[in-house]
Amino acid sequence: MMSSKIIAANFKTNHTRRSSAEYIARLDSFMAENGVDTPVYIFPPFTALDSFDIKSGIKIGVQNAYPTVKGSFTGEIGLEQLDEFGIDTVLIGHSERRHILKESQEFISEKFTWFKERGFCIFYCIGEPLEVREAGDDAVRRYLVEQLDGIDTRYENLILAYEPVWAIGTGKTATPELIEKTHATIKALSDRPLLYGGSVKPANIGEILSVPGCDGALIGTASWEISSMVSMLEIVKS
Ligand code: PGA
Repeated sequence: MMSSKIIAANFKTNHTRRSSAEYIARLDSFMAENGVDTPVYIFPPFTALDSFDIKSGIKIGVQNAYPTVKGSFTGEIGLEQLDEFGIDTVLIGHSERRHILKESQEFISEKFTWFKERGFCIFYCIGEPLEVREAGDDAVRRYLVEQLDGIDTRYENLILAYEPVWAIGTGKTATPELIEKTHATIKALSDRPLLYGGSVKPANIGEILSVPGCDGALIGTASWEISSMVSMLEIVKS
């Protein structure tokens, strides 16, 4: 019933090359054997990228990439490294890259445009920190609008994710009412699919995906254990 929802798993700095391969193989078998046709995207660490033999609809993306084919950008990877594994999906604007890695909106939008010009599927994240949320709905709207600065919100291969910073990895999930309200704000700015992210887990994914205007979930912590990911996909399928 909910099978058109998009489910994405962000491994962040977790899983090794071996454990990612095992995870993807097990998830692939589960999906193929159970006829799960939900679009599922896995974002493993760079070291785990490979040419996976995938039977189901799983798509592999990267958590980051530099807007270049190749060159001198120490510690980054570019198109040449992505092409080797047929990767055409990238996560841009995640709050950990904005806040911990200090990526500016200018750089983020440059990256977005570069990968857009190459036809990538872009998962683009926006979300406010706690102090902005506490300042009220207008402040949240202004903050989210700024995070869309320089972004083509009509891009056909864009998937948006609303991820309130105070709900990421904290166990604190936004309430369904707050998700519905904020998604309506974002939907007025873009008609692209809009996922929710922030402490999504087996116990709340059903409720979250039922929120009007929620087109799927971007999951961190609760996606790292294959059993938890499988439980969530079973809920999505039912
Ligand atoms: P979380 O992370 O599920 O651990 O809150 C979500 C995310 O950062 O995408």
